[in-house]
Amino acid sequence: DSYVVIMAGGIGSRFWPFSRTSNPKQFHDVLGTGRSLIQQTVDRFHDVCPKENIYIVTNKDYYQLVKNQLPFLDDDQILLEPVGKNTAPCVAYAAHKIVCKNPNANIVVSPADHVILNEKEFEKTIKTALYNSYNKDVLITLGIKPSRPDTGYGYIQYIEGNSALKKVKTFTEKPHLELAQTFLDSGDFVWNSGIFIWSAKAVIKAIEAHLPEMHELFHEGQKYYSTEKEESFVEQAYPQCKSISIDYGIMEKSDNVFVLLSDFGWSDLGTWKSLYDIMDKDADQNVIEANAMLYDTNNCIIKTSKDKLVVIQGLSNYIVAESDGIIMICQKDEEQRVKEFVADAKAKK
Ligand code: GDD
Ligand code: MG
Repeated sequence: DSYVVIMAGGIGSRFWPFSRTSNPKQFHDVLGTGRSLIQQTVDRFHDVCPKENIYIVTNKDYYQLVKNQLPFLDDDQILLEPVGKNTAPCVAYAAHKIVCKNPNANIVVSPADHVILNEKEFEKTIKTALYNSYNKDVLITLGIKPSRPDTGYGYIQYIEGNSALKKVKTFTEKPHLELAQTFLDSGDFVWNSGIFIWSAKAVIKAIEAHLPEMHELFHEGQKYYSTEKEESFVEQAYPQCKSISIDYGIMEKSDNVFVLLSDFGWSDLGTWKSLYDIMDKDADQNVIEANAMLYDTNNCIIKTSKDKLVVIQGLSNYIVAESDGIIMICQKDEEQRVKEFVADAKAKK
């Protein structure tokens, strides 16, 4: 049987001030479609598995947000973390819990904040990956053709073969710029989409091999999952986990990784630039998610609350963002500094 685990515990700090610790981007209707990113993510798996097999892993502070946005979920399908420890513990917890319910479970792990334009193609790709992972000891990720030397992604080098599913030779998480440029130039690499497909058994085996302490913790928990003791178990187990992503913890180290080359119009809405790229633009190449009057203004992204009228003259290549008491005006090319602004704003409070 197929299961879906949605990782939704990130705080999206690169998307500040729009994404905030108290209300991170996955719970926002970023694209203005009427559905938040996490709702769109769930919708996307409509024909992949029954709703009862969808699990959300998030921080306990976001329980109410999840409940409000996805009211059909049973509490047992919402896995709450007392502290964020990145994605490896999130995957380990969910896999151990699901395998208790179904030893032959096949799992899709998906981020909660990605945009996928071609839903039909996405569904087809997921089904192919599920078919290829069922009852096998393989870790599959979906690979995306890279378009720039982005240092925020994992890079995958694969061994050529006839089928779309390729054996992975190297997996390099978040390389520095020079290395990313080399990977891009060589033409042999794809981006890791961060969407993974594997049997519960295969991923648990990989966790046992590469993160043995984490494996032991969540294995130990199997007597408590889906009982009233689960919460107190998790409360004491999580702080003991090392904080590490699934990419550094498992994917870089495993030798049974496969990549399915995919093309379904993918974007990790990780940065202001990625949002700018995907949104419709006016004649002056502005992205406007605001009640705005613009004069001599081009190549900007303007995202402000609709109850305020924004008037701008003579601005090029800027981000103008306003949300919940914070206004940020920042050159588009300098957006990597947003992390610094977040830290400084926290210190100021
Ligand atoms: N439950 C939970 N707990 N979820 C988390 C946590 C956590 O502590 N930290 C992050 N997440 C969620 C985020 O909300 C997001 O949906 C997903 O896990 C991935 O985390 P990111 O922090 O967005 O990862 P990334 O974008 O830097 O890198 C990953 O994705 C790239 C593609 O978008 C990696 O898999 C890269 O290799 C990949 O290229
Ligand atoms: Mg991301």
